[in-house]
Amino acid sequence: MLEKELLFPKGRIRERVKELGEQIASDYAGKDPLFVGVLNGVVFFFADLMRAISIPVKIDFIRAASYGSRMTSSGEIRISKDVEKPVRGRHIVLVEDIVDTGITIAFILNRMKEKDPASVKVCALMNKVERRQKEVPMDYVGFTIESGFVVGYGLDYNEEYRNLAEIYVLKP
Ligand code: IMP
Repeated sequence: MLEKELLFPKGRIRERVKELGEQIASDYAGKDPLFVGVLNGVVFFFADLMRAISIPVKIDFIRAASYGSRMTSSGEIRISKDVEKPVRGRHIVLVEDIVDTGITIAFILNRMKEKDPASVKVCALMNKVERRQKEVPMDYVGFTIESGFVVGYGLDYNEEYRNLAEIYVLKP
């Protein structure tokens, strides 16, 4: 196990997720939104966020496979699991664990727009800004960090650390 340092404790995460849920519920009241989680890392955040939203929600999932090493992101992406519910005319909220270069979410966002939704917005637990290559509108953000590799609360390093209840930064 690599050395790690606590970044966001449980209470802070819970509080921030509650705020995001309240904001989204107020923005989407009466709109019957479809929340699309980007697998796998998002599942912990997604489950908590959905329960923090007081209006009715519908959910679906999408998964993008990328090639390249884990500490960086390569530019090659494909959809390995697409949404299953109809998207046309719906208000879509894409929910991601972390946006780093922006390549993954930009790709998914374009894919989603091709399906002719009424609107698409992006909600990310973490916004990591230093290495951004694709400018993507970040409509709802849990936490913004400059750099570093974070794990826990769904985020992994080589498939480890996902089930930690808090968010840590790995020491280089
Ligand atoms: P992007 O395409 O560079 O924005 O990368 C997005 C994906 O890279 C995320 O969905 C994560 O799977 C992974 N990723 C990027 N930074 C981190 C990190 O700090 N911790 C864990 N996963 C990360």
